[in-house]
Amino acid sequence: MIQNPNVHIIILAAGQGTRMKSSTPKVLHKILGKSMLGHVLHTVEGLRPQSLSVVVGHEAERIRSVIGDPANMNWVNQHEQLGTGHAVMQCKSVSVGADNVLIVCGDTPLLQSDTLHKLMQNHQQSSAVITMLTAKVVNPFGYGRVCRNTEGNVIGVVEHRDASLEQLSIDEVNAGIFCVKRVALFELLEQVSCDNDQNEYYLPDIIVHALARNMKVGTVCIENDDEILGINNRVQLAEIEQRLQKRIVQEWQLLGVTVQQPESVRIEATVKIGNDVELRAGTQLLGSTMIGDNCCIGPYSVIEDSWIDDAVEVFSFSHIQGAHVGSKSKVGPFARLRPEAELDEQVHVGNFVEIKKSIVGRGSKINHLSYIGDTQMGSDCNIGAGSITCNYDGANKHRTLIGDNVFVGSDTKMIAPVEIKSGATVGAGSIITKTVNENGLTLSARPEQRHVPGWQRPKKG
Ligand code: UD1
Ligand code: CA
Repeated sequence: MIQNPNVHIIILAAGQGTRMKSSTPKVLHKILGKSMLGHVLHTVEGLRPQSLSVVVGHEAERIRSVIGDPANMNWVNQHEQLGTGHAVMQCKSVSVGADNVLIVCGDTPLLQSDTLHKLMQNHQQSSAVITMLTAKVVNPFGYGRVCRNTEGNVIGVVEHRDASLEQLSIDEVNAGIFCVKRVALFELLEQVSCDNDQNEYYLPDIIVHALARNMKVGTVCIENDDEILGINNRVQLAEIEQRLQKRIVQEWQLLGVTVQQPESVRIEATVKIGNDVELRAGTQLLGSTMIGDNCCIGPYSVIEDSWIDDAVEVFSFSHIQGAHVGSKSKVGPFARLRPEAELDEQVHVGNFVEIKKSIVGRGSKINHLSYIGDTQMGSDCNIGAGSITCNYDGANKHRTLIGDNVFVGSDTKMIAPVEIKSGATVGAGSIITKTVNENGLTLSARPEQRHVPGWQRPKKG
């Protein structure tokens, strides 16, 4: 995409978002793992503007700390939220030097760079002073309606709450996105009054003043009305998330990911997926998760902030968080990998196994009903069913060290801190409290086995 050197972009994000009924500012509500404002920022950054401002007011500091300080960005404070026109006013000095200003709202996360690019191109080619993005929508409830004269020329925008019954039937709405010649913009804003139902300075009112001064006002009507949808309440939040999810799933499908029952999976906007991956129904890939090539995940597995290498199989109902799974490993069904579980290549972790803050070496297998915590395990070990590292004494966590090629029999308790050296075999049912030497068999004393001759099973009834 070309650079847009003479454009200053303004994102409006100062409102509280009263209709969200939340202590979190509206633009910080997340959609597929990324804040609403984060989505809009990503979109406008695609245009490579000369400079960018975000107008904040309500919980400004909290918003700044979540978003950080991207390059070329100014945080502009609107101390009192007196309307969208008033918000834009605050950007007068930071936008000096730009020919045009592009204004977008922080609550329209489906918006795409291409659409903004087309709006700006149209604005520049038509030499209009104001170009407004509009859309025809099935349900215009809540939006500002675009009013036109009998020739079809735009004459203004009326907000839903200020509209007459006749105006409410108009299905063309203001998307809240404007491209305006900078000098004219701030002159026109001076003329805008707050004579309306909300006593606010409405940005779209610049249209009326521009027309009164014979300035050219144009509109671009968008075909895909999805993109302009704004979020004002949590019903819209869920609807928009669903639409964005469909878009993201389709993007991955087109890049070579097979998705079973696409409407059942969740792939957050921050996730990366390799080639020839199969995602089975009900799977959720969250946060900073990365999936390598040729993996097969699910059904119904959740992977969050984790790195899954190539050719890994994660079977049904597994939960993986903050972990790394090396290539060609197999995990699940019903496995739980907790933060800092670090599996090397070709590791097998089976059903009802939990691993926390542990390194598991290449080719090792922990296949049934085990807990491995605070452990460093070498390669080619086999940990028998029901074996447990007893890492917690009620106050402190202790480490278990296991060498290479260790065989731990079923139902062994390793009371940490403890070490089992390479090549050792531990007999089933052992309680290990001391260092186990290399090779040979180590086992703890077993209760004597008794036989009771002549004993008979109780009979039913
Ligand atoms: C606005 C438009 C409406 C349009 C709709 C599109 C106005 C008056 N109305 O209505 O015509 O159809 O968007 O989604 O412009 N904000 C500030 N400071 C303020 C007030 C708002 O920064 O003083 C920000 C909000 O944080 C939000 C954006 O501006 O991100 C839009 O405000 P909102 O209250 O959601 O306007 P709508 O009622 O949706
Ligand atoms: Ca809105």
